[in-house]
Amino acid sequence: MSDEIILKTKNLHKKYAEGTSMEVHALRGVDIEIKRGEMVAIMGPSGCGKTTLLNLLGGIDQPSEGTIYINNQDINLLTDTEVTDFRLHNIGYIFQLFNLFEFLSALDNTVLPLLLTDITKLEAEEEAKMMLRQMGLGDKIFHLPNELSGGEQQRVAVSRALLMNPAIILGDEPTGDLDQDTSSEIMNLFVSINENYKQTFLVVTHSEHIAKFCHRTIRIVDGEIVDDGKQVKK
Ligand SMILES: Nc1ncnc2c1ncn2[C@@H]1O[C@H](COP(=O)(O)OP(=O)(O)OP(=O)(O)O)[C@@H](O)[C@H]1O
Ligand SMILES: [Mg+2]
Repeated sequence: MSDEIILKTKNLHKKYAEGTSMEVHALRGVDIEIKRGEMVAIMGPSGCGKTTLLNLLGGIDQPSEGTIYINNQDINLLTDTEVTDFRLHNIGYIFQLFNLFEFLSALDNTVLPLLLTDITKLEAEEEAKMMLRQMGLGDKIFHLPNELSGGEQQRVAVSRALLMNPAIILGDEPTGDLDQDTSSEIMNLFVSINENYKQTFLVVTHSEHIAKFCHRTIRIVDGEIVDDGKQVKK
């Protein structure tokens, strides 16, 4: 793991329906630092703000207050178009329910982000095929999602996220829909990607078992970090 900080937040706040009687103060001054090559778990009770945090980090939603630096870029300073481009190149997102397009093959699902860049379709498909082979899906390239197991579908989503060589991969309960054995298989895949490519991961989970695959665990309660895991390990 390097000493380079790949992701940093300062005093991050998120209020939904701000100023109304429905206001929810979902994040209350969150400070996080993640180094390149770290694998970090985020845990906390339902409703504590985990998805909110990931959505802010992924540039899907904006904070009410505070700053987010990814790869030394303050993402609040980017225009909408710039954020979209920054996201494409720097952030891989893996969701609980795989988020694959059901009428597209494993290959076509994987290749999607590359089609938004300058490289040709043929080159993009070659890269996507290579990635799918590395993920152990070489014989499933032309399968549709419903012709794949849950673990295989998640490996397609991982291939798609990895293909852009992002600064960080954000996973919102990426194993939440898988049984324990398949969850461990996916986490072992993350560990090997982390070890081989120094890929940084931030993974939300409800499972202590899943968190154990990570270098440290950040714990959130009611929108505040109660433990950033730094004292415990490393
Ligand atoms: N779009 C929204 N509008 C209003 N309130 C919201 C919105 N999204 C989330 N919230 C509220 O913000 C708080 C944090 O929600 P969030 O989805 O981040 O929790 P979570 O930790 O991901 O929970 P879970 O473990 O159940 O997925 C909750 O009180 C939730 O009801
Ligand atoms: Mg959530």
